[in-house]
Amino acid sequence: MPITLDAERGVYRLDTPDASLFYVVRDGFLFQAWWGARAGNRELGSYADLLDAVPRSPPMPGCDWSPDSSPLALPCAGSGDVKAAAVRIVFADGTVSARLRFLSAELSEGFPALPDSLGNPLPSLRARDGEKASTLTFTLADTFRKLKAELRLTLIEGHNAIASSVVLTNEGDEPIRVRNLASAAIYLPSGGMDQITLSGSWGRERQPDRQPVRRGLRVIGSDRGFSGHAFNPFTALVTADAGERSGKAWGFSLVWSGDFAISVDTDQFDVSRIVVSSCGTDFSWRLEPGDRLASPQAVLAHAPRGLGDLSRTYHRLYRDNLCVSAFADSPRPVLINNWEGTYFDFDHRRLVSLMDACAGTGIELFVLDDGWFGRRDNDRTSLGDWTCDRKKLPGGLEALAADAQKRDLRFGLWFEPEMISPDSDLYRAHPDWAVTVPDLEPQECRNQLVIDMTREDVRRYLIDSIARVLEGAGVSYVKWDFNRPLTDIFSASLGAERQGEFTRRFMEGTYAVMRELTARFPRVLFEGCASGGGRYDPGMLYFMPQFWTSDDTDARERLRIQWGTSLVYPFSGMSAHVSASPNHQTGRVMPFDFRCAAALTGSFGYELDLTALDTGELSAIAGQVAAWKRRERIVRTGDFWRLKSPFEGNETAWIFVLPDKSEALFCFYREMNAPNPGTGRLSLDGLDPDSPYRVEETETSVGLGLLAGFPAAGALLYGADLMGPGIALPLSRSDWTFAIIRFRRV
Ligand code: DGJ
Repeated sequence: MPITLDAERGVYRLDTPDASLFYVVRDGFLFQAWWGARAGNRELGSYADLLDAVPRSPPMPGCDWSPDSSPLALPCAGSGDVKAAAVRIVFADGTVSARLRFLSAELSEGFPALPDSLGNPLPSLRARDGEKASTLTFTLADTFRKLKAELRLTLIEGHNAIASSVVLTNEGDEPIRVRNLASAAIYLPSGGMDQITLSGSWGRERQPDRQPVRRGLRVIGSDRGFSGHAFNPFTALVTADAGERSGKAWGFSLVWSGDFAISVDTDQFDVSRIVVSSCGTDFSWRLEPGDRLASPQAVLAHAPRGLGDLSRTYHRLYRDNLCVSAFADSPRPVLINNWEGTYFDFDHRRLVSLMDACAGTGIELFVLDDGWFGRRDNDRTSLGDWTCDRKKLPGGLEALAADAQKRDLRFGLWFEPEMISPDSDLYRAHPDWAVTVPDLEPQECRNQLVIDMTREDVRRYLIDSIARVLEGAGVSYVKWDFNRPLTDIFSASLGAERQGEFTRRFMEGTYAVMRELTARFPRVLFEGCASGGGRYDPGMLYFMPQFWTSDDTDARERLRIQWGTSLVYPFSGMSAHVSASPNHQTGRVMPFDFRCAAALTGSFGYELDLTALDTGELSAIAGQVAAWKRRERIVRTGDFWRLKSPFEGNETAWIFVLPDKSEALFCFYREMNAPNPGTGRLSLDGLDPDSPYRVEETETSVGLGLLAGFPAAGALLYGADLMGPGIALPLSRSDWTFAIIRFRRV
């Protein structure tokens, strides 16, 4: 049984294959006692002693524990607990104190529903056919404050993770103001540990940042209305010795795309309280008597065997148990996107010439990016006017889609639904639909404003106008962009007392539009984007199986971005395109084959002017696409091991292995060449040690010197040898070299 309880002694235990999480009731309160390596099989009640090891100083009068140094399952602000609170409420009388005492615990099957304020379920993990999910719900209450909180912990058997969320009910007869409602509060003895975050910026998203855990409070998050480029809604605490295959790691990931705050508050005893919340600084939710508010899921994962282990736990969940799209489980089409090829400078003829260049390449989908609607010749106009610009495309999208079809290409389109240009017919008709503070000069960003997704009329307009385009042109792919943060927050649809609800309601409104459009168009592949990878989070991956990883298409930078992203997210979700050289973001010049090799480990495509390629490059594409098709299943469905970090040197290496270990794809990249560099070997990982593997194909960059011992096509090698002595790394004769090997177990 993955969840066991001894109600009499107040001991509750959740077991995943490699970890145990304990809760203990004492003095009428619920405490989290242990989360880490799997415990033994003592009589359950005896584990109550796990709580005794937790320091309790200074004591609080009348109690033998002190709230700010005790691992309360749901610590509330104002009750003597001065650390990061999981629940912060301002009551009708203006006071804050609340104490949530343990009331009951209940076991149930499946995932509990987490409804948002529109009545839609929040994005959530789910059990697949044949899998079993179990939930332990703790009910806590403050009977004086008439407050009820349900802490719901769900695990899917076989997965090393637990989903945590909280549902709060106002059982009083006056409204209350919820300033924070966390998804999880967890305690770890963190002396000597490190904290890892994925931080970055536009063009260099999700770079791993590792720092020692220090006493005091550290908060990462976003108040931008979307998860953003600066911090991903993820953190990990790891033992100091943690590497890819060693040490222990505890991961915290939030299934949410809006504001968030992840606090690591470490006390004088070196115990960290980690509070994962979807509430930003200005969050304030008026909860009416009888109403409920649910926090999104935090996915807590413990890995006893290093960061690689932690990543594989998240990959499996986010690949197999999150996305509702049918495309999550199927191969994605190879696409050509015109953005870096033409930017806004296109017309029907130019686009058709791009389509013509696809002939014989195997490219399957033509994507028309920004600029097809309104009068959008630049980024100063027309967002919201989702009708075709007949000046550029006289025959409309229909004629363009028909031209694509004639060339055996499916047709895809770009939208940026949550935005409105001040220079647009939509804005002229509905200036109040833009998010601006009345009488305050609107703050434009990329010359655009945000549209008020909290409004039902706005959502209806977007669904109808986008659906009309998708139906009319037979669109089979949508790139859903989002290119500016929320500022100057105000909605006429919310009274003064509810403006603090805006960013959460905005996200719920966005999810509602995504939910309806993705459900109405199940055959359309939706890809997320936010100025590149600015909203690359589990909330988005719930609706869309893939996301534009970054606007930075430079292959060297992409290896770093893909490496960092892979800490939490599987490659099945990373869109990666081959772009022009010199690269548009970095000006770097790089060979075509290296650019392709770096993109070959994502959802693959091209984003450049095919008509400007030389014949050698153009004729190479058919081979690249064919190679991707041979390999994509391993990348999309395989387990993943990072072998050599681009952040530590000149080389990157990783390997994908199918879960049954029958096939593997090894990728090695070296950036700069060096004179007389010496030779080296690299041990692979993830293979079946006892089985022989045949090298099905080896692809290398031009002019690579392969040493004896480098697996050539047809070679037969045992998993144990590949993972032990490993392979002899090739020698470079130029910069930008790579080797890719596909193995099949025989
Ligand atoms: C930002 C995206 O990240 C780009 O790929 C492109 O779609 C532009 N927006 C278009 O405006």
